Amino acid sequence: MPSPHALPPVLDRLDAELDAALDRLMSLLRIPSISTDPAFTADVRAAAEALSADLNGMGVRASVRDTTGHPMVVGHIDGPEGAPHVLFYGHYDVQPVDPLRLWDRDPFDPAIEETPAGKVIRGRGSSDDKGQLMTFVEACRAWLAVHRHLPVSVTFLFEGEEESGSPSLVPFLEANREELSCDIALICDTGLFAEDSPAITTMLRGLLGEEITVTGPDKDLHSGAFGGPAQNPIRVLTRILAGLHDDEGRVTVPGFYDGVPVLTNQMRADWANLGFDEAAFLGGVGLTTPAGEREYTVLEQIWARPTCEFNGITGGYTGDGFKTVLPSQASAKVSFRLVGTQDPLAIRESFRAMVTAQVPADCTVSFAEHGASPASVMATDHPAFAAARAALSDEWPKPAAFIGAGGSIPIAGYFKTVLGMDSMLIGFGRDDDRIHSPNEKYDLKSFHKGMRSWARVLAAL
Ligand code: BES
Ligand code: ZN
Repeated sequence: MPSPHALPPVLDRLDAELDAALDRLMSLLRIPSISTDPAFTADVRAAAEALSADLNGMGVRASVRDTTGHPMVVGHIDGPEGAPHVLFYGHYDVQPVDPLRLWDRDPFDPAIEETPAGKVIRGRGSSDDKGQLMTFVEACRAWLAVHRHLPVSVTFLFEGEEESGSPSLVPFLEANREELSCDIALICDTGLFAEDSPAITTMLRGLLGEEITVTGPDKDLHSGAFGGPAQNPIRVLTRILAGLHDDEGRVTVPGFYDGVPVLTNQMRADWANLGFDEAAFLGGVGLTTPAGEREYTVLEQIWARPTCEFNGITGGYTGDGFKTVLPSQASAKVSFRLVGTQDPLAIRESFRAMVTAQVPADCTVSFAEHGASPASVMATDHPAFAAARAALSDEWPKPAAFIGAGGSIPIAGYFKTVLGMDSMLIGFGRDDDRIHSPNEKYDLKSFHKGMRSWARVLAAL
C-alpha cells in the first residue's frame, strides 16, 4: 500500500497536464482504426504502433504483437516488490462511421466542443474505447512522472479487433497464458451509472451473431414478368424474422430461455432503489414507451433479460428511385444478447434448425457466424472490488454502484475461462455518448475524472 501522501501529487499532476493528455488522445482519435473493414487494416496497425510507442516513452516495455488478425499491444511495467499485478485491457479499434452524412464533422478530425451539458470530445472512438483506454494510460503516466514507479505491477493489453468479434483473442490468450495471467484484469469499456454516479459493472450480456441468407431464383428477375409464380427471398426472409418474437415480445427460438435466471425480489428491489430515470433514458433517443417484455423494468430488460435484435437487412433494390425487381437473394444480420447460463452454441443450433424448417421449395438458406460468447458475472467478493468502490466514491459526488450492462465484452469471460483471472469493469462512458453511432462523444469530465479515478484505484489496489 503506498503512503497516503503519494496520491495527491498524482491527482495534481493530472489536473495540471490535462491539455497535454487531451492532445495525446486527439492524435490517437485521428487514426481511423476501423477493425471490421479491410480497407483500414494499415490504420489499425498504425494505432497499435502509436500506442506501443507511447507506452515505451513512459518506460513500459511494450510491443506490437501479431495475431492472425489485427495486432495486440502488450506492455509490462514492474511495481514494488510484492505489490499486486494487474492486467489492464482496452481496445483501440473503432466501429465504422457510416452513415457519414449524419456526422456534423469528420469522424476522424476530433475536436473539443462546447455543449449545453459541458465540454465534450467529439469523434469516432472518443468514448468507445480510445478515450476510456487513455484514462488509464494517463493515470499511469502521472504516477510515473511523480513517483518514477507505479503502486502495482501492470501488464497492458490493447486489442485491435474488439468491435469485430475478437476472432484472434482466445488463441492469443492461450499462446501467452503465462505472460498475461495476473491477479486481476481491469477493463475500461463500460459506463457510469449516471452523470455523478460512478459504477463497477458486474454483469455483462453475452452475444450470438448470426447472418442468414435466403436464395431463391438463380438471378434477379422482373417482378411483373415473374412475380406470383416465383419465390421472393425477401418475403421468405421477413416472414421468418417476423416469427422470431411472439405477441408478448418473447423470443420463439426453441430452448432460448434455458439458463435464464429468475430475478430475485432482492435484486429487483436493489435496482429499483437506484432511481433510474426510464423516461429520460428513452427520451434521450426520441422514444417514450419501453418496447421489451412488459413485466420487466427498463433496467431489468437491459441488464438481465435476453433479446433478439435485427441489426441489418438487405435484398433487392435499395438505391434512390424505384426498380421493379424480384431479387435472387435477401439477407439479415441477427444478434442475440444472452444472460445467465444461456448456451450460445445450443441457441445457434436451435435457431438455424428453426429457420431451415421454414424455408419453402425452390429456396435455400445459408448461415454465417459472427461470434458466440456467453454472459458473464464478475466475482464481486474479490477484495479489489471493495477497494475500487471506495476509491471511486472518493472521486465522484455520489458513491459507486454495482451495475449491469446491456452490451457485451467477451474478453471478460475469456479472462476467466482461459486464464482463470477475474475482471473488474470500471468505465466512465455515458448513455448519451452515441457509441457505434454518428457524432460519438466523450465528456471532458469523463476523461478528466476517469484519469483521476484510475490514479485512485491504482493506489487503493
Ligand atoms: N463498449 C462496448 C460494450 C458496452 C456497451 C458495454 C454498452 C457497456 C455498455 C463494446 O465496445 C462493444 O460495443 N461490444 C460489442 C461486442 C461485440 C462486437 C462482440 C457489443 O456489445 O455489441
Ligand atoms: Zn463498441
